[in-house]
Amino acid sequence: MKQYNVGIIGATGMVGQRFAVLLENHPWFNVKLLAASPRSAGQTYEQAAGSRWKMSVPMPESMKDMVLLDAAADIEKIAEQVDFCFCAVDMKKDEIKALEEAYAKAECPIVSNNSAHRFTPDVPMVVPEINPEHIEIIKAQRERLGTKRGFIAVKSNCSIQSYVPALHPLRKFGITKVLACTYQAISGAGKNFETWPEMVDNLIPYIGGEEEKSEQEPLKVWGEIRGNEIVKAETPAITTQCLRVPVSDGHTAAVFVSFENKPSKEEILRLWKDFSGVPQELELPSAPKQFIHYFEENDRPQAKLDRNLENGMAVSTGRLREDTQYDYKFVCLSHNTLRGAAGGGVLLAELLAAKGYFD
Ligand SMILES: NC(=O)c1ccc[n+]([C@@H]2O[C@H](COP(=O)([O-])OP(=O)(O)OC[C@H]3O[C@@H](n4cnc5c(N)ncnc54)[C@H](OP(=O)(O)O)[C@@H]3O)[C@@H](O)[C@H]2O)c1
Repeated sequence: MKQYNVGIIGATGMVGQRFAVLLENHPWFNVKLLAASPRSAGQTYEQAAGSRWKMSVPMPESMKDMVLLDAAADIEKIAEQVDFCFCAVDMKKDEIKALEEAYAKAECPIVSNNSAHRFTPDVPMVVPEINPEHIEIIKAQRERLGTKRGFIAVKSNCSIQSYVPALHPLRKFGITKVLACTYQAISGAGKNFETWPEMVDNLIPYIGGEEEKSEQEPLKVWGEIRGNEIVKAETPAITTQCLRVPVSDGHTAAVFVSFENKPSKEEILRLWKDFSGVPQELELPSAPKQFIHYFEENDRPQAKLDRNLENGMAVSTGRLREDTQYDYKFVCLSHNTLRGAAGGGVLLAELLAAKGYFD
């Protein structure tokens, strides 16, 4: 496979640090440069992020002495040196939209973890096992932007990465309605227990904007390309409640679902077991071998025990049973900063590389 030079924009942040760790020994992607805000620009990665390093493994040696560039002021300089960039920045939505478009227009493709462009109609929002075909909209996006290489592709919000994969293979039974309550880890807010001690022994029943994302994003992921845009699916009806819980990593969801044609429990379990997508077919380096794992034990999946399954890229499910109000209920879990953030971004980039979008 061809090698690609990549940049990490927002390298000092929680998701940026994850990208650095995941890309350290990546077989296709070579980290050429790092960028962040003007506060960090000009410092080495170690100077800027060493004291706020949140990963359980050390900062990659090969990146410690890299001098951070200014993500907004150095766009041309960055675009000249890399084949594409990962982007995970904490800025205002309008600023992120403009920043990512400026990179695309400088012919530097962007694989983004930010939410700013998730509902731009010609920007694909991709879970590679579910809607890999949506990357074909990039042709229309390039025409709109007037670019040859440049484009923006995004991954979806971390909250939906557990229940959308579990629901996807069941769509053929006509999913009519879904209720999902998510129990979300503090790393989803870029925090750990040192930086957010109020979360020890606590639960906060509100995460700004999360319920809207959790209800709307699945419909774009399940949408279809029509002309120059991705049109959202009209069903199922989805309602959610999103809670912040005292867990370091791993978002859990308790899901209730009804169908037009109710499947048997055995059919659901077989479809989960057999669910394999393009990343598995193409044997992309970050793809889990088994995407959905089902635990028979009543007390699984557990965040602490199961979030790192298949390097944090698999989805764990359990407790599938019939419900009195809906057809079925079950629990699912995914690692929010791996599958739900940087790992999902790397897998999307691998899909784009394998399909020639960075050439
Ligand atoms: N944490 C998660 O699980 C998760 C999951 C999915 C998506 N996301 C999304 O990923 C993005 C980053 O999240 P995070 O948790 O990594 O945030 P974070 O830890 O707060 O990091 C923010 C990053 O943005 C940079 N930044 C801030 N202002 C900037 C500016 N004006 N110009 C350029 N860079 C700037 C920061 O650089 P300095 O260090 O120089 O300030 C830092 O590198 C957000 O959009 C978030 O919604 C996060």
